[in-house]
Amino acid sequence: MLCLGIESTAHTFGCGIVSFDGKILANAKDSFTSASGGMIPSEVAKHHEQAKEKVLQDALTKAKISIKDISLISYSAAPGLAPCLLVGLKFAQKLAKEHKLPLVGVNHSVSHLAIGDLVCGAKDPIYLYVSGPNTQVVGFAGGRYRVFGETLDVGLGNMLDKFAREVGLGFPGGPKIEQLATGKYVELPYSVKGMDVSFAGMLTKALKLFKQGIAKEDLCFSLQETAFSMLAEVAERALAHTDKKELLLIGGVAANKRLGEMLRIMCNERGATFHAVPLEYSGDQGVMIAWQGVLQAGEKLSPETADIRPYERIDEVNVTWR
Ligand code: ATP
Ligand code: FE2
Repeated sequence: MLCLGIESTAHTFGCGIVSFDGKILANAKDSFTSASGGMIPSEVAKHHEQAKEKVLQDALTKAKISIKDISLISYSAAPGLAPCLLVGLKFAQKLAKEHKLPLVGVNHSVSHLAIGDLVCGAKDPIYLYVSGPNTQVVGFAGGRYRVFGETLDVGLGNMLDKFAREVGLGFPGGPKIEQLATGKYVELPYSVKGMDVSFAGMLTKALKLFKQGIAKEDLCFSLQETAFSMLAEVAERALAHTDKKELLLIGGVAANKRLGEMLRIMCNERGATFHAVPLEYSGDQGVMIAWQGVLQAGEKLSPETADIRPYERIDEVNVTWR
């Protein structure tokens, strides 16, 4: 049995195909890009409209199947930009009607966690989810995913991108900062409040030091060391409080080698296992939506009742599959 997953919450339109026993057959996608790095929802939705048929065909070709071999369609119902979510919903509804297939509408954030578990073989980890807008420490407890800690202002990726843009490194900034992080340490605000973190003060200070002539290499190094140490501290506290033995790093910033190294050292020191989700499955894609659809295959919707929930948070999802 095969599930087709359709992702359309933000910049990426993706179609993934997985089998019900967790084999990944295809991961096709097309992402909206712009020189400024900004996203106007209606423009992104237009991109998805234009990309959807080709992305679906790419996925079917890669999987060497026809749509007739699909038994379930899963789409990202939440959270995201409403105009983008609607493109995915309507496409899923049309395919479901045409091919008489059941539909499942899943939460995108929960899917990021579930695909991490699948590809890394994690059982019950603490998840450190670090993307452009998101920075969260999440764990499963008492029947739900709980957000133990999160950023109180800007997400880690967005903070790095903003710094990079202001000092002329271009977009996306995270990888450029990683390359340039070769200098010496200058002090930046280390801001952990309980299990929450804050990056706004660090960004302001780093930009101020840049204007005073401190080298980019020193600032890139110091931003990484400070921000990543803060995350290692809250992730360790979450492991200690929940008595969990695995940490799973996910989201676009998971690509950063130094972040992975720091978290691995922390995990080794306390006898926990560290997993980093491979790049192909750590950003937005349809595979995670397909796999989440398999996990929620019992929650079928008819095309008429399928909807979107642009603001649903990870801790609002009723977890029926664990
Ligand atoms: P979400 O998945 O939460 O909807 P998103 O799709 O915008 O968010 P991702 O694609 O997961 O985010 O991540 C993008 C972010 O990852 C950017 O901010 C980028 O700078 C950052 N990033 C990518 N590679 C690296 C790296 N090597 N080091 C640090 N940051 C990186
Ligand atoms: Fe995402």
